[in-house]
Amino acid sequence: MPSWSAIVTMVVMDHDHLQRAAKDHLWLHFSRHGHYDDHDVPVIVRGEGAYLEDSTGHRVLDGLAGLFVSQLGHGRRDLAAAAAKQAETLAFMPLWSYAHEPAIELAEKVASYAPGDLDRVFFTNSGSEAVETAWKLAKNYYKTVGKPMKHKVISRSIAYHGTTQGALSITGLPGLKQQFEPLVPSTFRVPNTNLYRAPAGTAGPDGADAKAFGRWAADQIEVAILNEGPDTVAAVFLEPVQNAGGCFPPPPGYFDRVREICDEYDVLLVSDEVICAFGRLGTMFGADRFGYQPDIITCAKGITSGYAPLGAMIASERLFEPFGREGAMFAHGYTFGGHPVSTAVGLRNLQVFEEEGVLENVRANEAGFRATLERLLDLPIVGDVRGEGYFYGIELVKDKATKETFDHEESERILYGFVSKRLYDEGLYCRADDRGDPVIQLSPPLICGQEHFDEIEQILRSVLDKASSLI
Ligand SMILES: Cc1ncc(COP(=O)(O)O)c(C=O)c1O
Repeated sequence: MPSWSAIVTMVVMDHDHLQRAAKDHLWLHFSRHGHYDDHDVPVIVRGEGAYLEDSTGHRVLDGLAGLFVSQLGHGRRDLAAAAAKQAETLAFMPLWSYAHEPAIELAEKVASYAPGDLDRVFFTNSGSEAVETAWKLAKNYYKTVGKPMKHKVISRSIAYHGTTQGALSITGLPGLKQQFEPLVPSTFRVPNTNLYRAPAGTAGPDGADAKAFGRWAADQIEVAILNEGPDTVAAVFLEPVQNAGGCFPPPPGYFDRVREICDEYDVLLVSDEVICAFGRLGTMFGADRFGYQPDIITCAKGITSGYAPLGAMIASERLFEPFGREGAMFAHGYTFGGHPVSTAVGLRNLQVFEEEGVLENVRANEAGFRATLERLLDLPIVGDVRGEGYFYGIELVKDKATKETFDHEESERILYGFVSKRLYDEGLYCRADDRGDPVIQLSPPLICGQEHFDEIEQILRSVLDKASSLI
């Protein structure tokens, strides 16, 4: 039996070794590595329900579901068991001319939930790959039906659609794109639905007419299609609720008008639901929440609650039809797309949604989540609280009356230098982001209830109150 001092030495050595190896060998995604020259890399070692624990034993509430992923929360034995069972039975087989049971069963289940005739499921490994796949399908489809010029894509300003070159080209964040230019040509941006910062005159005389703003924002898609020439535009990529910029829900009537425009000019409506599908908004798909019919849905993340990586593009029968004919093929695929273990986990995940009433839990509690977060509006630094379901953005402002936002130095000092770290230290993992205006993003696991919302609010209140004094 080792002595206590020996155990302490071992733990410290483990900690030091882990830190050294993380700093020397691991390349983190979207991370400023220089920060870790004189700080520890946070190392998360386990999760249970809505909570995460790091290598120092610090426990935090997972206010972001990992990265909009962990719908059912952490530490579920049933999902782990589904993965193990599938790996033992058939660990790998590609979906190239052959099928396997978990992919077939998950495709059937996903199609049964998807709106309208979205009955064809093409599996990928990630959201970016789902977006790539959707754009390639749109281009290829129009070539097969005698409209070969239709290839361009319209998307919204500040929207994030992924990092592969096509998905990044569709992304509306210049700061993420410029260092990789030239990207895939032929993508064009229209305004997003940020009502809080609606351009003067677009939301009625008092700036609060959401319906008028929605009509204006949707009409900008028509303007873009006409500017480019309808014969050249293949698709519009829109999230049900746009994440980047801090949760922009669609104003009333927005998607009805977008659908009308897409029908008029024969442009495909792609609903990018990499975040919004699988319960995030209290419905299986975001399109259901707002009552519109897309031609394609792209999804990933919550399809497995993160117990294995998986994405999918779900297309209408109309789009599949030319590729289902004798001798035809959609010449596209990924070795690991629809991996047996991932699809088995996805299937078990969606069964749990049904057995445990996960969507019902979100719908029963979403009003409480909103009301709890809205309490924060009494803080001078909180300008806007917006979102739907279990998906919210809190916009921070320098001056509430004028909606003045932080400058670069203030964003660095307050958002990254203080708020991000302090939230974690006080027990909340979430994301402070300034890809648009500075926001805190919240997206807790769908198993959460009022006690978690109260905890989130208390930690945010404590940290944002202190942040106010730094302005
Ligand atoms: C709307 C949207 N599309 C695409 C992606 C890219 O997904 P992934 O990171 O799985 O490639 C994301 C990622 O957050 C997303 O939010």
